This record gives sequence, C-alpha cells and structure tokens, in this order.
Amino acid sequence: MNKLIKTLTMILLLGSLTLNAQVKVPVYLDDTKSIQERVEDALSRMTVEEKVGMIHAQSKFSSAGVPRLGIPEIWMSDGPHGIRPEVLWDEWSQAGWTNDSCFAFPALTCLAASWNKDMSLLYGKSIGEEARFRNKTVLLGPGVNIYRTPLNGRNFEYMGEDPYLSSKMVVPYIKGVQSNGVSTCVKHFALNNQEVDRDKVNVNVDDRALYEIYLPAFKAAVQEGGTWAIMGSYNLYKNEQCCHNQYLLNDILRKEWGFEGVVVSDWGGAHNTLQSITNGLDMEFGTWTPGMAWGKTNNYDNYFLAQPYLAMIKSSKVGTKELDQKVRRILRLEFLTNMNKNRPFGAMVSEDHIIAGRKIASEGIVLLQNKNNILPIDLSKTKKIAVIGENAVKMMTVGGGSSSLKAKYEVSLLDGLRKRAGAQTEIVFARGYVGDVSGTADGVTTGQNLKETRSADELIADAINVAKSADYVIFVGGLNKSEHQDSEGTDRLELGLPYNQDKLISELAKVNKNFVAVNISGNAVAMPWVNEVPAIVQAWFLGSEAGNAIAAVLVGDVNPSGKLPFTFPVKLEDNGAIAMGEYPGSKGQLTYNEGIFVGYRWNDKQNIKPLFSFGHGLSYTTFEYGKVTADKKEMTEADKMTFTVSVKNTGTREGSEVVQLYISDLKSTLPRPLKELKGFEKISLKADEEKAVSITVDKAALSFFDADKHSWVAESGEFEALIGASSADIRTKVGFILK
Ligand code: BGC
Repeated sequence: MNKLIKTLTMILLLGSLTLNAQVKVPVYLDDTKSIQERVEDALSRMTVEEKVGMIHAQSKFSSAGVPRLGIPEIWMSDGPHGIRPEVLWDEWSQAGWTNDSCFAFPALTCLAASWNKDMSLLYGKSIGEEARFRNKTVLLGPGVNIYRTPLNGRNFEYMGEDPYLSSKMVVPYIKGVQSNGVSTCVKHFALNNQEVDRDKVNVNVDDRALYEIYLPAFKAAVQEGGTWAIMGSYNLYKNEQCCHNQYLLNDILRKEWGFEGVVVSDWGGAHNTLQSITNGLDMEFGTWTPGMAWGKTNNYDNYFLAQPYLAMIKSSKVGTKELDQKVRRILRLEFLTNMNKNRPFGAMVSEDHIIAGRKIASEGIVLLQNKNNILPIDLSKTKKIAVIGENAVKMMTVGGGSSSLKAKYEVSLLDGLRKRAGAQTEIVFARGYVGDVSGTADGVTTGQNLKETRSADELIADAINVAKSADYVIFVGGLNKSEHQDSEGTDRLELGLPYNQDKLISELAKVNKNFVAVNISGNAVAMPWVNEVPAIVQAWFLGSEAGNAIAAVLVGDVNPSGKLPFTFPVKLEDNGAIAMGEYPGSKGQLTYNEGIFVGYRWNDKQNIKPLFSFGHGLSYTTFEYGKVTADKKEMTEADKMTFTVSVKNTGTREGSEVVQLYISDLKSTLPRPLKELKGFEKISLKADEEKAVSITVDKAALSFFDADKHSWVAESGEFEALIGASSADIRTKVGFILK
C-alpha cells in the first residue's frame, strides 16, 4: 500500500513538473505554436525602444535583435551572385577575414539565358547554402528589374527584358534559397531601370506598362515564390521615394498582392521619417546616414526609423500601431530564419556548388552565330589555338558594385582551355587590347598584374602575329565591371565595345578564317564586324567556373543551349526607350514613353530587325519543329488550352532546345504587342530523337491590363499561338478563339 502511494505521488509530481516545464516555455520560443502566436507573444514582451531598435540598421549589414529575449540580430549580405565578403562594422573597408571567400555563381543574366527553371532552383539552393553557412539571415537578391535599355550598368544583375521569362525564372531561385532558412530580398522594387540619377529620378510610367512589364516578376516573387523580404528601390515613383511609397508598397505590394514579408530599404533609400512610418517600409539600411548625409561613425541613431521615430512616439506625434506592424513582420522573418531550429547548416564552396556553378554557366552560354560550323573545335585535329583579349585572363568576380565578390577561385578562359586541351594542343595568348588593369573593388584585390607598356598598335600587331600561325583564333573581349560598363552606380555611355576592340576584331578576322569571338558582358553590345567573323559566343559573367564552362562549350563537351534573355539591337537607336528620347530623363523626371513596347515588343512594332533577337541561341545540332496543334478550337474564360508540337533533333548529336510559345491577339480595343512570350519548355533530345512538347495556358496569357478598369482583361476574339526557336524565328502557329 505504502509502495502504491509512493508511486502515485511520484507520478503526480513528475506530471506537475512536466506541466510546469511546459508552462514555463514562453510561447514565442515554442515551435509547436503557430508563427502568428509566437509573433504576438514576442511583441507583447518588448519595449518601444527594443522595437525601434529592430527596424533600422546597427551596422552596415545588420540590425539589432533583442538580446534580453534571445532574439538574434538580422544579418544581410549581397547577393545576388555569391556571398559578399565581410566589411567592418561601420565602414565599407574589408574586415579582413580569412574565411569569407565564396563560390561565385554566374550572373543572373546567364541564369535567365539558361531558360531552365531547374537551373534556377539549383542556383537558389546552392547560393542559399553558402548564405546559411555564413550565418546570413537575408540574401540581398535576386534582382528582377526589367532590361529597358542596353545602357543600364546593372542589367547583368537582372533577368532580362521579358516579364514572363523573369517571372518564371525568379520563383525557383527564391524557393531554393529559402529552403535553407535564409530569406531572399527581391530587388529593386520598382522601376529602377537605370543607374544614372538612380536616387533622384522620378519615373513616370503608365499603369499598363507598370502592370504588364515592370511588376510581373515582383508579383511572381511574392505570390508564387513566397519571398520573405523585398527591397525598395532608390528612385521615385509618383514623386515619392520607392522605399516609402504609398502606391507601390501599401496599395500594390501589400493590399493587391497580400505580401506579408519585410520591406527593406535600399542602402540609403529612405529619406523621410513620417513617410517611412506610414508608407510600408519596415527596415531602414544605409550606405550613409541619415538619408543622404555621410557619417563616419555610429550614426545609426540618426536614421529616419531610429531616434527621430522614437521622438515622435514619445511626443505623441504618432502612435505605435505602425511600429508594431513593422516589428511583427520582422519577428515573422526571425521565426522563419534565425529562430527556425530545423533549418539546415549550409555549405561553402562545396563540390556540389562547383558542379552546380559550372552546369548553370554552361547552360546559359549562347551560341549567337556559327557559320560553316567552325565550332565546336575538334581538339584532335587542332595543333595550335591563339587566345586573344584581356577578358581571357581578367578576373571578373571583383568589381561591378555591390555584387562584387571575394571568390575562393576563378578559372579564366585561358586556364580553362589550357587544362581542357592538355598537351596535344598548344594554346598561345596575346593581350590584344588593354581595358581595366586595376583589379580592386571595395578593398578586394584580384592580385593580377595586368600592367601593360605596349601601345595599342603594338598590341594589335603582336596579336595578329599570334593569330596568323594558329589553327583557331578565340578572341575574348566584351565589357568588364568597371565604371560605365557592367557596373552599379554608372550606366554605359555607348552600345559599342570599349578599348578599340572593334578594330582589333576586324583585323584578326582578316588573318584567320577560323575566328571565334567570345563576348563577356551582361548587356547587348554593337557588333559592326558581325559579317566578318564566322562564330560568336555570348558568355556573360560566369563566376568561379567561367573558364571551364566556356572551354567545355568551345570544344563541344557541352552542346550550347542558352537563349538570349534580351534583344541585341544593331544600333542604340533601335531600342524603344532611346528612340523615344526617354533616357536618362531630365530635371529629375523620366517618362517611359515607349510604354509596353520594351525589347522585342518594340522591334516587332517598328519592324526593326535586331542584331540577335530575344530568345535566339544556336546549338551544335539542329531541331525541326512539326505542326503545332491546339486541344480545342475555342476557349472560354474559365478554360485552359494546351498547344502541342513535336520537335525532332535532326543533327548528329544530343542537344537541348527551348521551345517558346508566344501569344498574339489578332484584334483588340487597345494596341497590343504583336506577340508576347507566354510559355517555354527546355527539352533535351538525342540525335534523331523526337518529342512532343505541350504547353498549357489560361486566360492570363491572353489578357492585357486595362488601366481604366484597373484589372486584367481578356477580350473575346481571335488569337494565335506561335511556336518558335526565338522571337524572330517562329516555326509554326495555330489560331484559336476566346469566347
Ligand atoms: C544596392 C543594393 C545592395 C545594397 C547593399 C545598394 O547600393 O543598390 O542592390 O543590395 O547597396 O550593398
């Protein structure tokens, strides 16, 4: 009996202990509770000062947590091509860590050029692992500002000119990153389509172009990708800074799209306390503080969302409703990232990342031209290759602004090709031209000595000598990451290649008919020599594995399958924005007069033949398209419609093709583009293999944005589905009716 009483007492005691223990875990730390409950509980425990502490920067890349409650700091990092090296707490100088070298992934233009959603997921997952390993809460990227003109210095960080392509490519990137418990911060919302005057220009754009061209990728990032954060842009819209913009942030992002995440200012993008409080901004970060004034040491208290906000609360000028709302969103971010016990640990420069980087790079490389099939190079028949041009040796991961990296390694094309060619083929190098010899950005130095004493003419003469005696000449030029090229903060000054490269290319092409031009850039360039050279390869900024990836394409280990994510115009005036005289604006105002006619939409409208069209890219094999069929003749608004086409590999080797679906509205009340991309599928085919490709669309693919009604409208009538290998190479079409 005694024993029984003892046992019962023990059970009761243990039970009450467990019960007590459960009661003692605060709700916000209890991950069996919903995020919403945890957020409300944490919020209820915080002082006003602690809340204000969370909504602005405390260092160049971090904001405060609440140490008393065990809520961690938030750490951010650029983005979007690799994890940036650490800088000092309150200065832009390097912190000098020895363990912050990253894997440099290809630039987002390359990712977009792969037209492969699986590559985007792989990219996101891999870069997210690097961010996680480095303990970052938020990755500052990806960028999806539309390619409006070829002069924008930051185009290389974005996903091209087409809203559909960028929408489809941004979503898997986000999912991949966030699967690591690291948030993406999609940027720059919105209308930041040039670097000139980026912090003071007010963009005037009609609602139709806003909704049809400039917003879809952001909307997809929010609604399909589920990004946990978004970054406001530097410029103004409706004469209000985009970082605290009633219309963009409150009306569209939050009300129309239901965004629940955190809005982060671009660095120094906030300019006003009251607007920052009321117009949707959650966290203020800065390059300088407050607003536009430089501050050397801890100026963070002066941020618009710091002491000035607190003072307004203390003097009852404003209440705390908005503050609580901001903190709620930040706490939600904390629970999804730093305070998510289940998130993985990440990895840095792992073998998997190297393989991923090389794969994405080789899938994005675009074969623009290949006359007489001079590519791929058959190494067994090639004794000597002349590699000419600075970009064959120059490290490209350093420079370009905030996306500049400290890469653990970077393989140049010269090294990549030498390694691949082995002893059997001699590779000789000539500089050809001198571009940028500096090799330093934000205190990171490539360590390369690119100093040169020869004159331009001597360099050309030396290059010609080398070119004459080789079986192949591979010219590697293009742009670099210096000012006025592919770089943040400045735009390009011309469409043409810098550093006398046009002359060099023409001279070289004269002395060797096996001439390949490899263009490294994140932008279209003019090619006045296009008819003088047989082969042209568009190779982007490809990151750590650059040289290996390009070499693999040149010698045919990889069959190229990239397609251009933007139009290459013959001349600058062939671009809509430039033709309409609306770049870069004047007196602080910039009007997008070309409206919805951006990229190929403009070429189609004006009947301008591009140098290379949107969606263009060749392969070492050939593809034949059958006749497209539709699963029905008529579609109602509630329906879906499927188009099927068979594609056959008619060449002798395996290859991949991007089958593109464009929709054309034959008659409408408002002017519409001749055609618009509304579907694509990348398929791989063995020699002789044939596959049926089906692409399904719904009403959204037929709709335009009616500004008067403020809604998407699909007008009944006749449409056409066009299937092509590029926007200028439509192979088959079928008509249908929307009832
Ligand atoms: C850029 C952002 C970047 C931020 C932090 C800004 O100047 O516009 O894209 O994420 O700096 O480096």
